[in-house]
Amino acid sequence: MDRPQPDGVRRPEPPLDEERRFAQFLVRESRIPLEIATSALEEVRERRARGEAIRLEQVLARGVGGPLDPARLGELRDKFERPGAGPAAAELPGPLAVLARDYEIGEPIGSGGFAVVHRAFRRKDGVPVAIKALRERDRNDPERLRGIVREALALRRLFHRGVVRILDAGMVAGTAFVVLEHVEGENLRSHLDRARPGLRERLEIFRRVLDAVAYCHRNGILHRDLSPENIRIAPDGEPKVLDFGLARILDPELGLTSTDGSAGTPTYMSPEQIEGVREGIDHRTDVYSLGVLLYETLAGRPPFAERHPSALYRRILQESPESPSAHAPGTPAALDAACLKALQRRPRDRFQSVAEFAAALDDAIARMERR
Ligand SMILES: Nc1ncnc2c1ncn2[C@@H]1O[C@H](COP(=O)(O)OP(=O)(O)O)[C@@H](O)[C@H]1O
Ligand SMILES: [Mg+2]
Repeated sequence: MDRPQPDGVRRPEPPLDEERRFAQFLVRESRIPLEIATSALEEVRERRARGEAIRLEQVLARGVGGPLDPARLGELRDKFERPGAGPAAAELPGPLAVLARDYEIGEPIGSGGFAVVHRAFRRKDGVPVAIKALRERDRNDPERLRGIVREALALRRLFHRGVVRILDAGMVAGTAFVVLEHVEGENLRSHLDRARPGLRERLEIFRRVLDAVAYCHRNGILHRDLSPENIRIAPDGEPKVLDFGLARILDPELGLTSTDGSAGTPTYMSPEQIEGVREGIDHRTDVYSLGVLLYETLAGRPPFAERHPSALYRRILQESPESPSAHAPGTPAALDAACLKALQRRPRDRFQSVAEFAAALDDAIARMERR
């Protein structure tokens, strides 16, 4: 059954598992998009099931979605087969070294306040994931551990297309981790900077974020750290909310199950978050952060653009922002009004729920479209 290979050498076909790892390698090296890798693998699997001797390179060289040079593919296969193609388990910090049994761990793709996020693939089925774990030096830090646990507890309750899905969570090597579906694409900040979507599209994204957050609230989860960095825009344009490390879980039976993690992201923090009043923090805090997000959506800048946190905090606590239309002339009055209402300093003056916010926004958009 053995046939000449693209590089002219007759080699036995690697087992499917190996082909899958090679496909993952090609995706990681940005040689082919994930969808091509998946469909090419599927074709290899089907044709082998029919008794054909076929290698992944042959399918790819034929060009699913644009041909790849066979010689180049040969080189890539060699590179893949050389030891050390991925980070060796021994080089990975604590929990990741253990997780490397079940996941093929790739590069770090993000590191925010308290964790490192690695891109990875689940070995058993090749599903791309993001693993969030504490840094080695933070593994015993109780506040950071609580953050991971909080994230796992919150996400375990949430199933919504606008919220990142959790696949696994647990403790290894004395510290905690969460495994999330990997969301391709980019965060909202870089999406706005790079793609420069028009007002209608920006509003559409924001509107979907409102739906996702309203869903979280209905399920007893406050996010408390909503910002453009914590929202990813998938390639199909769907926004997904992530980073529930500061989430608060409201449980009617248990009361508050989480102790407070204090700070969020300065620009998006509500006055009550800055003041650190625990009792004052409820779903209207998310309404405020969403107001900041809407402000940026409309005006292209936050309500208070201060570099230094102390100056920023002072203004958030004491001032009312200018209308978005002061920066973006032509912004409809109803959108201005909805935005400023969400940004009221006193929670009782804001929208009392995200659903109410969404209704006002729908109204404003409908009026805008009638104009
Ligand atoms: N599921 C995911 N898919 C893709 N990228 C992710 C995912 N989760 C996190 N990231 C990336 O890692 C960064 C940090 O993750 P995040 O959950 O925000 O942690 P932190 O609390 O440290 O800010 C994110 O801004 C994002 O770029
Ligand atoms: Mg974050």
